[in-house]
Amino acid sequence: MPLPTINPTQTQAWKKLQKHFDQLESTAHPFKNADKRSQDFAVTWNEFYFDFSKNRITRETLQLLTELAEEVKLKEAIEAQFSGKKINRTERRAVLHTALRDFDSMREEVRSTLEKMKTFSQNIITGVHKGHTGKSITDVVNIGIGGSHLGPEMITEALKFYKTHLNIHFIANIDGDKVAELLRELNPETTLFIIVSKSFTTQETLANAEVVKEWFLKAAVPENIATHFVAVSSNIEKAVAFGIASANIFPMEDWVGGRFSLWSAVGLSICCAVGYTHFESLLKGAFEADKHFRNTAFDKNIPVLMALLSVWYNNFYKRETEVIVSYSQYLEKLIDYLQQAVMESNGKSIDRNGEKVTYETGTIVWGNVGSNAQHAFFQLLHQGTKWAPADFIGFANPLYDENLHNHAILMANFIAQTEALWEGTKNRFVEDNHRVFEGNRPSNTFLIKKLTPKNLGSLIAFYEHKIFVQGIVWNIFSYDQWGVELGKSIAKTTLQAIEIEAINPNQSPYSNHLLSEYFKMKN
Ligand code: F6P
Repeated sequence: MPLPTINPTQTQAWKKLQKHFDQLESTAHPFKNADKRSQDFAVTWNEFYFDFSKNRITRETLQLLTELAEEVKLKEAIEAQFSGKKINRTERRAVLHTALRDFDSMREEVRSTLEKMKTFSQNIITGVHKGHTGKSITDVVNIGIGGSHLGPEMITEALKFYKTHLNIHFIANIDGDKVAELLRELNPETTLFIIVSKSFTTQETLANAEVVKEWFLKAAVPENIATHFVAVSSNIEKAVAFGIASANIFPMEDWVGGRFSLWSAVGLSICCAVGYTHFESLLKGAFEADKHFRNTAFDKNIPVLMALLSVWYNNFYKRETEVIVSYSQYLEKLIDYLQQAVMESNGKSIDRNGEKVTYETGTIVWGNVGSNAQHAFFQLLHQGTKWAPADFIGFANPLYDENLHNHAILMANFIAQTEALWEGTKNRFVEDNHRVFEGNRPSNTFLIKKLTPKNLGSLIAFYEHKIFVQGIVWNIFSYDQWGVELGKSIAKTTLQAIEIEAINPNQSPYSNHLLSEYFKMKN
């Protein structure tokens, strides 16, 4: 068995944690001595300062949470993942996105794909690679969805400061209006399309790629496809059948899951967006985080702490959601990215023994950038009945030298909000109940020196490892996603009904009623 199959609620640590939780909740002021807590509950690592002092924990909580990690055999599980055991049992696959950034002992297939990405992206950026009429490429369109979209788009946005002259676009949604809008802007002579699909069977991606190919062929001949279309896939046969020359296919390994694939050839649009050197720095940042994760004691291990705190709130405080607020507009796509990474991974209710779990698993992740979010949902965080643990992410230095005062205001808000959440109005005079802030609303603070490709790589890798640790504790399989299949297959039957404009008696009456109304309304 490559992964342990321990029910966390049956461990000694869980029982102790439950007792400890009850005690904490019945103590008047359990989280005293802010000075000491600030020192005790923080980790300094590379250009990161991870402050987790404003959490509903004491030394004892931390001790018991790390005991839980030991009892569920986290250490063994980490080694099983890194050493390539088939830990994704329901798909019979290893999980090795960490091998894509292992610069100490890089696999040959990883190195050669990186080489190919480097040469190709450099040729596009420098104009060595020309379009079919001899003009340089100005626009790159990534066609893909889910993991074949969210990572590249998030990183491209986050690293805009480091961008090349190329314009990068993303087509993910099957919504034809969105595709039409983009194609209006583009010139087929100067656009490169990257079709990204691990399976090369995803309905949205294939339909969008066909639309784009048809649009392209209005201005070019089939032989020109080789100059304007490349694919990233593990299904070479299907990509070739679509019309992509085999030399233009960037391989994806079976052991890279879609939502963990931005480090693979899926990152080709990132290479075009920011240049290969920055892409490599991103990988190196993730590699540093991998080493920290693998080699650091649990009570100083950033992703392990992130995961255990999240388990503490999810399973003992019964918090269903967690909020992430980045004090950088560049990180505006982080939530979209993490929603897939976290919820597709840990939104499971069958354990590794094949039994229905009797405890809560994956959290709901939401959020936005600060300070915008303060003027939107923060009221609920501060005074609502549904408090949620929060991650605050901020950068000590801005990227531009202009507008330094803006950055000071941004950072003031970043720090002030975590104080307001935790301290509330405990030490302030308050006129009436409506102005009371109870406090004790927890948050982690990630203070990072600067938004560089390397630091971003580390940050994303921390969240990846957090997801893994939680999956281990909850005794679920984090790396499959069977929950997306049923809807896909019903959509196929429904599409057939729509195409012949006749309802299918085997489909649910709910859908057939809707289809009848739809047929009446359309045209
Ligand atoms: O939505 C399910 C899913 O399989 C994701 O896990 C994946 O990232 C996405 O679809 C796209 O898959 P592919 O890269 O095979 O097109």
